[in-house]
Amino acid sequence: MNVFYRAYARVFQGIFWVACHFLDFSEPKIIKGEGCLKELPKHLKEKNIESVLIVTDNVLFELGMLNDLFKALDKEGVKYSCYHKTVPNPTIDNIEEALEQYHKEGHKAIIAFGGGSSMDCAKGVGARVARPKTEVQKMRGVLKVLKKIPPFYAVPTTSGTGSETTLAAVITNAKTHEKYAINDPVLIPDYAVLDPVVTVKLPPHITSTTGMDALTHAVEAFIGSANTIKTKKMAISATKLIFKYLEKAYNNPTDIEARNEMQIAAYQAGVAFTRAYVGNVHAIAHSFGGYYHVPHGLANAVILPHVLRRYGKASYKKLAILAREVGMTGNSDKELANMFIDEIFAMNKRMNIPMYLEPYKAEDIDQMIKNAMKEANPLYPVPVIFNKEEFKEMYDIVCGLKK
Ligand SMILES: NC(=O)c1ccc[n+]([C@@H]2O[C@H](COP(=O)([O-])OP(=O)(O)OC[C@H]3O[C@@H](n4cnc5c(N)ncnc54)[C@H](O)[C@@H]3O)[C@@H](O)[C@H]2O)c1
Ligand SMILES: [Fe+2]
Repeated sequence: MNVFYRAYARVFQGIFWVACHFLDFSEPKIIKGEGCLKELPKHLKEKNIESVLIVTDNVLFELGMLNDLFKALDKEGVKYSCYHKTVPNPTIDNIEEALEQYHKEGHKAIIAFGGGSSMDCAKGVGARVARPKTEVQKMRGVLKVLKKIPPFYAVPTTSGTGSETTLAAVITNAKTHEKYAINDPVLIPDYAVLDPVVTVKLPPHITSTTGMDALTHAVEAFIGSANTIKTKKMAISATKLIFKYLEKAYNNPTDIEARNEMQIAAYQAGVAFTRAYVGNVHAIAHSFGGYYHVPHGLANAVILPHVLRRYGKASYKKLAILAREVGMTGNSDKELANMFIDEIFAMNKRMNIPMYLEPYKAEDIDQMIKNAMKEANPLYPVPVIFNKEEFKEMYDIVCGLKK
């Protein structure tokens, strides 16, 4: 990659940043607070929605976590059916199966209940309802849906992805292992239901890793060059909340205050990155998810501090701002930035998140790098645009193969 490509990427990102001012990034309406999920059926009723598809996964279904919602829907007389076969890293097959159920049952709206996997699967269904003749693969990329999806209610249960407010649906092609995003403001949910109660059964390792995914959103958005006043504010607030509350939620799963603040943090980080993008951490993480099913949050948690360290002075100034915001003091931006990165390593350690990922397979690495480069360049406004060799170095570092 030469200087001309880097210059082209920066011009591309600049044009995109300006173009985004003309898109509708309206946030969802928020229903929030302890036990607020029970109010959702009333909202549906008020909107004259009489039949709704619920998209979730089997773990949540078997845990009985939807029972209160089912009861409340029954009480309001809202018809529903539940698709609960979403897998982590949801696939095109998931979307097509759920879509069939949506049409068969004559539903008119969608409730996404779960982590990013269920919410993204549900968004895929919405996109296919809006565009019945367009295959999921063809909607990959930016602004390919461009048509209103059915009324969409998102209930996040992991406090991580922020999908309840983002324009993205991340889908995996099970045949090619490729994981990619459909990005379109029409996929921003109409309502985000931020109920801390639905997160108290999250196992500690999922609390920690999905929380670090939210931190990755906030940090990657903030250190990129596509911010607005609002995205900066949201990223800073999310970072502060995560530093304060994530470990509380990890150590004491029933701490409702911590759970509540983490729901807000994940949402705010989602608002930040839906406009200001993520970066190289996500591009690398997606390839580990697509190839080896490494959970998204875990991959990001491990990769984040290594990539920040590699950025070096290109991100000192902005990381120093975040460091000061979380209460650190130091003599220079460099010192503060490194303290911030060290603290991310330390948080990971305290929450039993490993320092490195399992090594990639030699036969996969070239394609993984290609996928990461395709995702990141030229779109992501990252502090340092990596070329092929730099990506390879990063893969070696995050797998502990190179110091
Ligand atoms: N759309 C976006 O903007 C966006 C952003 C980031 C990530 N993603 C995508 O989201 C997916 C990851 O989502 P995730 O990290 O939320 O995990 P997930 O949805 O895959 O869930 C992880 C596991 O946690 C379980 N779980 C979820 N909530 C639970 C609860 N309250 N109690 C007990 N168990 C629970 C699930 O059943 C699952 O087994 C990835 O595909 C990732 O690429 C999307
Ligand atoms: Fe993410």
